[in-house]
Amino acid sequence: MIQIKDFKNHEGQTIETQGWLTNKRSGKGLEFIILRDGSGFAQCIVDAESVPNDVFETAKRLSQESSIKLEGKVVKDEKQIGGYELHVTNLELIGTSVDYPITNKEHGIEFLMDKRHLWLRSKRQWAILKIRNRIIFAINNFFQKEGFVQTDSPIFTGNAAEGSTTLFSSKYYDQDAYLAQTGQLYGEAMAMAMGKIYTFGPTFRAEKSKTRRHLSEFWMIEPEMAFYNNDMNMDLIEKFLKYVVTDVLDNCKNELEILERDTTVFEALKAKPFPRLTYDKAVEIIKGEKEVNGKTSIQLLNEDLENVKAKIAENKKGIEEREKEIAGGVKKGKRNFLQAKIDQLKQEINKLEEAERNIPKWLESAKNFKYGNDFGGSDETVITRMFDTPVMVYNWPHEIKAFYMKRDADNPEMAKGVDVLAPEGYGEIVGGGERETNLELLISKIEEHKLPMSEFEWYLDLRKYGSVPHAGFGLGLERTVAWICGTQHIRETIPFPRYYGRLRP
Ligand code: 4AD
Ligand code: MG
Repeated sequence: MIQIKDFKNHEGQTIETQGWLTNKRSGKGLEFIILRDGSGFAQCIVDAESVPNDVFETAKRLSQESSIKLEGKVVKDEKQIGGYELHVTNLELIGTSVDYPITNKEHGIEFLMDKRHLWLRSKRQWAILKIRNRIIFAINNFFQKEGFVQTDSPIFTGNAAEGSTTLFSSKYYDQDAYLAQTGQLYGEAMAMAMGKIYTFGPTFRAEKSKTRRHLSEFWMIEPEMAFYNNDMNMDLIEKFLKYVVTDVLDNCKNELEILERDTTVFEALKAKPFPRLTYDKAVEIIKGEKEVNGKTSIQLLNEDLENVKAKIAENKKGIEEREKEIAGGVKKGKRNFLQAKIDQLKQEINKLEEAERNIPKWLESAKNFKYGNDFGGSDETVITRMFDTPVMVYNWPHEIKAFYMKRDADNPEMAKGVDVLAPEGYGEIVGGGERETNLELLISKIEEHKLPMSEFEWYLDLRKYGSVPHAGFGLGLERTVAWICGTQHIRETIPFPRYYGRLRP
């Protein structure tokens, strides 16, 4: 049995292959089947002249998502998806598929989410999951090459680490338990045993918000390094992100093309250092008090708004012209061509109009940003708009960061945290920092956050027995997949997403 991805090694040969029919059209005495088998997509041509009668009859009746076994000759054809097609000599039905619910017409997102177990078969979802797979592979490669040990942290835990408001409670036999929001605290213990470690597991946050960035269950990569300060931490984050992005660019060209992902931002990112801004400087930029490349955020957003408006007008004109042409009477082929362009322009307008509504809101909230607050989604969008690579923001007001973050000795109001914000509106993909090693400060922080001290005895031990400076970070896998794939919403980046309001399938 030959997989579609290996057709290239069998040019001119008669082979067997198997998969699912994802699409089909009929010509005179010909059936054109688009086959998918998980490894790729290929056109398979069934010619009435080349197969027995009953086989051609079977081919004619095949419906979407029927599973089939095929025999045929592999022929090179660069115009076809994958570059090879199969000239079928025999075909066998494995499993029928009656009234497959997901057709080529537009479906609403809730419908598709209800049918997620089937939706995963579509080309776009396939491409996203392939890229997710490659990202996971690249992450493991990177850390293994850098001498990190992969260790696993527990999912049932007795304590909160990232704030008590987003805890999922559970039962552990007769005790109360929580699902892990992070593996970090355990990661710190493991770093004291192994030097440089990373955990890579599911994490849980009860986020009662329906944003395009939040899941209730997501996967996080959390490296933790003994003898690291936050500068070393930032160096590592930058090297790591560049490695992952480059690896995906090199190995997922086809998938990125299917997703129509504009990869210019990734090309730029490979060569440039990521800007590192203190929280204070980032706030000045957001509020429009500081220029970047000769412009303030307010100027840039106003320009964006003008450009969006001009583009909408241009698209509307383009639609009008084509509609006039159609009304004047054209041949069917030309009409379809014009109509397809009109539909495309309309879709673009929808996106542009969303931007037209959003930009004034971003402008308002940027101007009114209050020093000391955490960044909201729109603040992140504004700051990343100023650069074409991810941006690192460090030294945050300690009040808005987790209890374990190291206070800056020179500036006690600040904690040595770092967030990495991805461009194009994707926002925070990494959160991390240096960890507090001062036992008294740590205890006072646990009290301030009203966390039960008894649950942290073991964690405090790490500061009592050979405490060393250490740092680490957490990368959200799905946010990274969303950014690299350019998906509108994080829910498409994990096979079976869990977010507020969605537990099934
Ligand atoms: O910034 P966070 O909360 O940091 C931590 O959990 C630290 N303990 C990590 C560490 O230093 N070891 O989360 C880290 C990252 C975020 O930057 C984001 O990418 C992702 O996890 N994340 C989420 N992704 C999807 N849905 C959510 N609800 C997420 N919350 C955080
Ligand atoms: Mg964070």
